[in-house]
Amino acid sequence: RREMSSAGAELRILFSPGCVQLVQEDMVVLGPRVLVTGATGLLGRAVYREFQNSGWVVIGTGYRRARPCLLRCDLTDEDAVRGLLHEYKPDVIVHCAAERRPDVVERHTEAAVNLNVHATSTLAKEAAVCGALLLYISTDYVFDGRNPPYGEDDSPNPLNVYGRSKLEGERETLRHCPGAVVLRVPVLFGEVESVTESAVTSLWLKVQEGTETCTLDHCQQRFPTDARDVAAVCRKLSEKARQDPSIRGIFHFSGKEQMTKYEMAIAIAQAFSLPSNHLIPLTEQPAASALRPVNSQLNCSRLELLNLSVEPRPFTAAITDCLWPFTPDKRWRQTVFH
Ligand SMILES: NC(=O)c1ccc[n+]([C@@H]2O[C@H](COP(=O)([O-])OP(=O)(O)OC[C@H]3O[C@@H](n4cnc5c(N)ncnc54)[C@H](OP(=O)(O)O)[C@@H]3O)[C@@H](O)[C@H]2O)c1
Repeated sequence: RREMSSAGAELRILFSPGCVQLVQEDMVVLGPRVLVTGATGLLGRAVYREFQNSGWVVIGTGYRRARPCLLRCDLTDEDAVRGLLHEYKPDVIVHCAAERRPDVVERHTEAAVNLNVHATSTLAKEAAVCGALLLYISTDYVFDGRNPPYGEDDSPNPLNVYGRSKLEGERETLRHCPGAVVLRVPVLFGEVESVTESAVTSLWLKVQEGTETCTLDHCQQRFPTDARDVAAVCRKLSEKARQDPSIRGIFHFSGKEQMTKYEMAIAIAQAFSLPSNHLIPLTEQPAASALRPVNSQLNCSRLELLNLSVEPRPFTAAITDCLWPFTPDKRWRQTVFH
């Protein structure tokens, strides 16, 4: 909203949830500001909340699920991205928006590359112009999984189109914005709106099938990671990188517990005292889906040495926390976001 001050100067008043910020002739009175792309998604929601709880002014963007207090912006529209950054002049951009489902990327490659690569490239160019710190979220799928654990300097070799598109996004980020930060993370779970939102919480449906026999992958080693922990790392990295320009380039963060999907499902069943006899371990990759790395474990020592990491929540406690709203007698308490 625009208003005139008592001295006759034009004031722009930005509303973000829980915060009102006055800007006079582009001078920030309260700050710092973070723009979170993909703020309607699994990680974006957690990042949004983490920064908001730490006193930042948060501007969140979504697209199809954009809600009243978020901005709707199609990041594949270059003019819209330019306008967004010009209007809000963020100090930091945490770029979470992406098409992250490997099988969807395989089927709709052009749309996915537009978002994962071209939109990232536009955002990086515009971040460089407005002097914002860009934090790009990437994935362990940039590695082929044949020789874990992987350090930040190890050579990527993605096995599927999703991994290639995210690697391209990393390169565009660092090409146009040399001071940017890339944070690679493995499979995520967190506070979901629907259990199908994450590959980990989706296992709840398999566990609940109860009497039907159900096969689950017991070949690919994963390190399920809570989005809330990733969000805390994003905030720590952003705060440090704003003070110290040597904080740039690639970082890894990951949960510490190694599990297959079968083992995650067993852990979920045990946590909720549900039967697990119907869960059958499968040791071959399904032929129909996009190729995935067998074990792309991330070595996270760079973050740890700089004291920018957080202690990952134990899997059983964290997944119980995320799934209990979906137990039949607690449906009324399903979390409402924003
Ligand atoms: N989830 C994982 O297991 C995982 C693992 C490793 C790395 N990552 C990375 O983590 C990041 C966040 O993933 P996530 O799981 O939070 O993804 P997600 O839940 O699928 O959310 C994707 C976000 O992208 C937004 N989006 C889609 N198309 C858009 C467009 N054209 N313009 C603007 N925004 C658009 C969506 O907005 P609407 O829904 O409102 O349309 C949504 O907010 C991604 O970079 C992903 O590659 C995720």
